[in-house]
Amino acid sequence: MDKILIHGGHPLTGSIKVSGSKNSSLPILAATLLTREPCAVQGVPDLSDTNYMVQILTYLGAQVERASGTVSVTAEKVQSVAPYDVVRKMRASVCVLGPLLGRCKEASVALPGGCVIGDRPIDLHLKGFEALGAAVRVEGGDIKIFAPKLKGAVINMEGKFGPTVLGTDNLMMAAVLADGVTVIEGAALEPEVVDLATFLMKMGAKIEGAGTRRIIIEGVAALHGAEHRVIADRIEAGTFLVAGAIAGNGITVKQVNPEHVRAVTDTLARCGYAIDIEDRAISILPNGDATALELATEPYPGFPTDMQAQMCALLSTTKGVSSITENIFPQRYMHVAELKRMGAKVHLEAATAMIEGVDCLLGAPVMASDLRASAALVLAGLKADGVTEVSRVYHIDRGYEHLDEKLSELGAQIERVKAE
Ligand code: EPU
Repeated sequence: MDKILIHGGHPLTGSIKVSGSKNSSLPILAATLLTREPCAVQGVPDLSDTNYMVQILTYLGAQVERASGTVSVTAEKVQSVAPYDVVRKMRASVCVLGPLLGRCKEASVALPGGCVIGDRPIDLHLKGFEALGAAVRVEGGDIKIFAPKLKGAVINMEGKFGPTVLGTDNLMMAAVLADGVTVIEGAALEPEVVDLATFLMKMGAKIEGAGTRRIIIEGVAALHGAEHRVIADRIEAGTFLVAGAIAGNGITVKQVNPEHVRAVTDTLARCGYAIDIEDRAISILPNGDATALELATEPYPGFPTDMQAQMCALLSTTKGVSSITENIFPQRYMHVAELKRMGAKVHLEAATAMIEGVDCLLGAPVMASDLRASAALVLAGLKADGVTEVSRVYHIDRGYEHLDEKLSELGAQIERVKAE
């Protein structure tokens, strides 16, 4: 297994370009199953998660080619069964359920296993499919869905932790080929949902209201092929902005939609960092005297749970006492024990992390546990005295395209030690 070694204390300067969004690419690639015609998805980042999705599409019968960020898919014939071995590596593989149901009127997909960031139920996805007229059962670890006919319905997708992103995606993808009109109430507002709706509309779907709480879908008989470039990865952008805060001497993050990262830039501005926002670029300047703050994660447009770990790393070295409350995945704190190994003072009370800023962190061997937790450890390593050795970096490779190379371009002393 590869490791990443970071020699801390080398200030970052310069600029990097953000890659295409992982969380847009995954459902959009799944949506290509909805048509027999060729589709081309551009800007797909080279990550293990997007590779898993390519493998799943191929298993389901699609012809898939991948060249310089463009994934071309022709799903002339599709089979509707995805066993555990094919889907187990990635929880987001559940987003083939909606398109398979839409296209084949049946699907059998293995239930994703446990997830280190906490309980990841899919009850709302299944409730949505049932409302469209599907029969759903779980058998032998597989979700089996069957609907001789899908019929539009009014469905509220909001759960106790708020709207569901992939649940909204799944339902939209099933409803585009249903008879009649589907209204999704309590829909997720995330830019990735809007990006999927944009792609579906390019394929001929009739969708209104994506990006609002109510999405209205008028079913059509068939979809056609389309080309689409996915939006920039707002979480990657946010992660680099926090890198700029924790260890920067002024860096610029390019190829980003500033609106999509507003919660992060507002938060960093609240800490006292100077943020300069242009059309497609954001610069962050260092702050000798950053201030502690209270923060809570929320569904978009609130502060993203996918940026919580990285903020935890930053606030660990910010003078004063900060708090972060995790409202989406209350157990998503695997990074805390590792940050403590580097000298961070963090105390967990239920879903809230109380963080007492320390003057310096000390490099240590630490273990990546999930994607965003791993990024937080790398960010902490940029600031720490000495060498931080992050193991299990395959977690990082799931969702950050060339993170070590991009940080190196900014001047970080970071190297990847390849496994024997
Ligand atoms: N939830 C339910 N029932 C459901 C579905 C979700 O109770 O049927 C709850 C979840 O337990 C959670 C909340 O609803 O408390 C929101 O979860 P959501 O369904 O929105 O998560 P997701 O769609 O499975 C996507 C991202 C995650 C990101 C979350 C929240 C992708 C592929 N994944 O997951 O990204 O954390 O939305 O924004 O889009 C990551 O990239 O590192 C990552 C984990």
